[in-house]
Amino acid sequence: MTRWARLLLQPALVAGGLAVDLTAGNGHDTLYLWQKVGPGGTVVAFDLQKRALENTARRLRSAGAFVACQTPATLVERASAGVFLVEGCHSRLSSVLREEPLAVVANLGYLPGGDHALVTRRETTLAALQAAAACLAAGGRLVVTAYPGHGGGEEESRAVQDFFAGLDPHRWVGLNLRNINRCHAPFLLVAEKRTGGA
Ligand SMILES: C[S@@+](CC[C@H](N)C(=O)[O-])C[C@H]1O[C@@H](n2cnc3c(N)ncnc32)[C@H](O)[C@@H]1O
Repeated sequence: MTRWARLLLQPALVAGGLAVDLTAGNGHDTLYLWQKVGPGGTVVAFDLQKRALENTARRLRSAGAFVACQTPATLVERASAGVFLVEGCHSRLSSVLREEPLAVVANLGYLPGGDHALVTRRETTLAALQAAAACLAAGGRLVVTAYPGHGGGEEESRAVQDFFAGLDPHRWVGLNLRNINRCHAPFLLVAEKRTGGA
């Protein structure tokens, strides 16, 4: 699913653009975003866990990225290219962004190799998706991988699916990509914004 998520995100990732990772984790997706927007682009990545942000910073720095850490109360200045790691809840997205991102990704669930009890939660995930949908640029894409298989994951996945299903069809093209031959497998939700506004 991660590979499909990246494929579906790719058309929205332009050199010099602004992209957001709502769940930095071990930094694999953040690295992908940075590689696509290039050294002149900006990536903002959130995580609640210091350990996740340390892993992400290490991965991005060893790839050659400029990496800065900040609080959710500080705006990312678009003029400054690089990767901005925000230690805090992704529901604070609108307090960090001044400009409209073209790509927003979220890989829900727990930190691989970390505490499996520390997972994304329905309420904050929905708040982050609402903020992302509101600020996404026209032509931009929002791509979410949902995990119904772990404790609490089914409820969150259903809520995320309902969120995508409720997007105005005049303004959004929505997709749902699922395994047809595996129960409780992660699935993908994609939305492309056709015009301005959520
Ligand atoms: C599946 S991992 C992300 C994997 C990551 N995208 C990668 O490429 O390695 C999910 C991450 O979401 C983080 N997370 C959970 N709740 C969060 C929240 N409210 N705000 C920001 N991050 C959160 C967890 O700490 C965890 O690191």
